[in-house]
Amino acid sequence: MDFSDFDEDERLIGRERQAEDRDEKGLRPVRWEDYSGQTKAKDNLRVFIQAAAARKEALDHVLLYGPPGLGKTTLAGIIAAEMGVNLRITTGPAIEKPGELAAILTNLNERDVLFIDEIHRLNRSVEEILYPAMEDYCLDIMIGKGPSARSIRLDLPKFTLIGATTRAGLLSAPLRDRFGMINRLELYSTEELMEILSRDAQILSIAIDEEGLRTLAARSRGTPRIAIRLLKRMRDFAQVRGEGIIDGALADFGLNALEIDEKGLDSTDRRILSNIVEMFCGGPVGLETLAACTGEDPVTIEDVYEPFLMQIGYLAKTPRGRVLTRLGWQHLGLPCPEDYEKKVRGLGAALSGEVDSAYPVQLDIESLDN
Ligand SMILES: Nc1ncnc2c1ncn2[C@@H]1O[C@H](COP(=O)(O)OP(=O)(O)OP(=O)(O)O)[C@@H](O)[C@H]1O
Ligand SMILES: [Mg+2]
Repeated sequence: MDFSDFDEDERLIGRERQAEDRDEKGLRPVRWEDYSGQTKAKDNLRVFIQAAAARKEALDHVLLYGPPGLGKTTLAGIIAAEMGVNLRITTGPAIEKPGELAAILTNLNERDVLFIDEIHRLNRSVEEILYPAMEDYCLDIMIGKGPSARSIRLDLPKFTLIGATTRAGLLSAPLRDRFGMINRLELYSTEELMEILSRDAQILSIAIDEEGLRTLAARSRGTPRIAIRLLKRMRDFAQVRGEGIIDGALADFGLNALEIDEKGLDSTDRRILSNIVEMFCGGPVGLETLAACTGEDPVTIEDVYEPFLMQIGYLAKTPRGRVLTRLGWQHLGLPCPEDYEKKVRGLGAALSGEVDSAYPVQLDIESLDN
């Protein structure tokens, strides 16, 4: 089977939720003890939850942002459970009219948690209802039309809004400013993913040893959802090709069969990197040109492939297009030209500071040197 032809919908290492992740719910931790990693966000939240609970107040509004599959929905569930309140889940695009949001808000109980996923996709008129709701716990509703229209103010229970977004940059400033806590979820380290996988393997009754865990974790792009998906695939390999247990060798065999390399890149990632080298000597190359050469859609490259390649420092954006970094050359096993850093620097690369991507990435120019 050639996995390189798969859409992102079915891409094995895509971060977005897919049909095969439907049993995710059973694996979702509901207690802090089972939620690995994200130490910074976790530590802060625990303090604020404890303080709010002691005062019997609602927790301040929380914004969670970061790439898909890092545990935003999971975290919202844990927060509600820790507060001992109900969790009401909805998504930005599902709320079409202000009245729908008003109905949700008026049905909340005191201190409840309202979780709005993809909050950057709320439409403007709905978002405006949220401002007074978040700030003063009230709703301003217009009654009637024309000259006789008047606005009335409804009190709401003191609730907690948890907003989640993969694209913090698309959130409007007034909405962002109304969150008391803004937490960015980070990619997970190999050790943290091993912890998660070990717990999930136990729940799913999958036999896996330490080396198996390490191999899978290292190749999962720092993302629990991908790690879990790969774990389930490896179970099949272990059953059919191995002794039923996932050890290092079997995981390595299975991942190679799926064309996922030791950094978690698949064949399309590698094709993009090698095209930049072979056709453009490492770049710069414009998005459209790159898309045409690799046979991918520009939006797909920008939203799906580029972010991770930039995160691991293989690819960088410059005002004149994409360039491969020295690390990128090394990953392909190719000798990088001598004065390559000079060339990249000369492009005035947006290497340090703001990189305009789906996820805010900080790439230091120094990382090109090693
Ligand atoms: N810190 C964690 N510890 C243990 N398991 C985790 C953790 N984070 C995520 N997971 C697992 O990864 C899966 C995906 O997480 P979750 O659905 O919360 O991601 P998400 O950030 O909400 O993604 P999306 O942006 O697509 O909504 C969950 O089913 C959960 O089992
Ligand atoms: Mg989610």
